[in-house]
Amino acid sequence: MRVSLYEKTIPASHASKLGAACAALLALAAGCAIQTQPRGLRPQAKPVENKPASFTFAVIGDTRPGRLVIPKDNASPSADYLKNIDAINRAEPDFTILVGDMVRGYNTRQGNLLERQWHEFDKTVARYDAPLYMVMGNHDVWDKHSYETYKKRYGAPYYSFDHKGTHFISLSSEIPGQMNRITGKQLEWLAKDLEKAKGAAHKFLFIHKPLWVDGTDYSGQGAWMKEIQPLLLKYKVDAVFAGHEHYYEPFNVQGIPCFITGGGGAELDAWPKLGGFFHFLKVSVPLKGKAKIEVVKDGKEYPSNIILKGFRRMVAGVKQSLDNGGTWILNPKKGTRVEFQFNNTFKETMQLCLEWKNGPSGNPVERIIAPQRCDVFLEPKRVKNIVFFASPITNPGDIPKLEWKLYEQGELIVKGEMSPPVARQGEFQTMKRKTKKTILKMNERARVVGGRGNWTGPKDCSANIQVVKGETGLLIVADVKDDVLAANAKRDDLNDHVEFFFDMRPETQRGKGRYDKGVFRVVATPFFATAKKDEFYFQPARAEIQGTMFRSNPIPGGYRVELFIPYDGLGKQHLQAGKAFNFDFGINDNDENGQRPSFMMWSGDKRNRWSTARFGRLRETK
Ligand SMILES: [Fe+2]
Repeated sequence: MRVSLYEKTIPASHASKLGAACAALLALAAGCAIQTQPRGLRPQAKPVENKPASFTFAVIGDTRPGRLVIPKDNASPSADYLKNIDAINRAEPDFTILVGDMVRGYNTRQGNLLERQWHEFDKTVARYDAPLYMVMGNHDVWDKHSYETYKKRYGAPYYSFDHKGTHFISLSSEIPGQMNRITGKQLEWLAKDLEKAKGAAHKFLFIHKPLWVDGTDYSGQGAWMKEIQPLLLKYKVDAVFAGHEHYYEPFNVQGIPCFITGGGGAELDAWPKLGGFFHFLKVSVPLKGKAKIEVVKDGKEYPSNIILKGFRRMVAGVKQSLDNGGTWILNPKKGTRVEFQFNNTFKETMQLCLEWKNGPSGNPVERIIAPQRCDVFLEPKRVKNIVFFASPITNPGDIPKLEWKLYEQGELIVKGEMSPPVARQGEFQTMKRKTKKTILKMNERARVVGGRGNWTGPKDCSANIQVVKGETGLLIVADVKDDVLAANAKRDDLNDHVEFFFDMRPETQRGKGRYDKGVFRVVATPFFATAKKDEFYFQPARAEIQGTMFRSNPIPGGYRVELFIPYDGLGKQHLQAGKAFNFDFGINDNDENGQRPSFMMWSGDKRNRWSTARFGRLRETK
């Protein structure tokens, strides 16, 4: 039996059953230094040993079981996670830190399922030979109830400890009311804790969400760089570890090595070449000098640059370019120019192969687009445009699919297939013609872009919208049919509402890229909304347009929202006041207190919130 300074980790629930005498006997039998409290799972426990020495520890993330099949399986761990535990035990670290998402969670309403999941978790982690420290993830804590459950079972949401002269800090990005932020008491505590530990030989920090990463859905980066990063620099923190994303990726944030290590056992969400493999990190801390960080994958150790820094961002950029470019507009007279722009921000040359394949109608692709195939080298720090020309078509089924493959040094990194978007065409009327004609309709299943299974027909949710060009501004009248007017969800974006999307840039820029000046979104909450927010708001926030008016009234079978945007304010904040523009609208239909809203979109899809490529096109009626 391996002799360790620590006893084997016994989850609290099991330890209590064993009884103190029994635990002491077990510890004696193992030849361990006796400690009556199990460590690890009780993060507030005092360290046993803090004499400076070299040692190793392991970091693993996102080990939660996959989708639940109730009641057949309430929480069993994945085979890949169990393999990782075995590999960690073979590596013999002093302890392991699990950086969150340990149970499936998100199940407050399902009886004691959460307790059962934690019980299963306790059973699983009893397999670790060395102690385990925990970091709170969003699957572990997502509301007050789960937060209280966690604290009762495992202690403080954030804490620190010392081990062999090194200081360890575990933060929580999931405290209810402070999600995705390290703020308030936690921030004060962190500053004090780092000050107290400034003499430590090494300092490591752990958090569930990688808040230093830009452009993520949790968007904590601004606050992190302003409030946390300066502390990390000041106190010379050695490295930061997070999970949440189910892959491995190394970063260098102003000289501080930061890692996403989310391949502990939950389903992976990246290609292997982009870090999508099961793994954990082994950190070897020397008495003096830098710690060595290795990726352990399939029982083998690899250097931390097994994935190169900036690589994922480069690939994401290629995907984004494909997503943003290539919108087709059906026109029997004119052809379509399909253009992509790629920017290689990475330091290596990448090779990209694009190939068009027959669309759903089966019409031969060579009659539709040229060139049919294109191989290009994307050189580092260079922007490349690729242009295709398509003959005039009217049938959306003729639009070919685009297969793409990205290579680095002849090795396939990632491949994909995209169906280019078809922008819907509409007209906006002049004020004089605002009589009977309804212009933009949204009443069919094909327009349901989220929660399609919940949509039962036009009476459930549908809309007619008029966009009218007035003397002094744009008027938009949306008549929404909705059988249940729901406004009970806590977040107003989960309640019934209408979203309008505008891309008011000049013709050559429209439909390309992300949100920018000239692009904005208006969220209009109807008359029955209980949200405390204004009844409508703009995104991005800086896009607020002076003089905008909004109102909402009941109509038979639903509600109406009206929005007036004056050209004056529009011209100051945006471009193209009063000219043709790209436009879209979406309806959020919630019948179950924010549980499962269905979302309809006139032209595009859910990506409209980030990309303008799928917006519809409006031209003025003559
Ligand atoms: Fe997560």
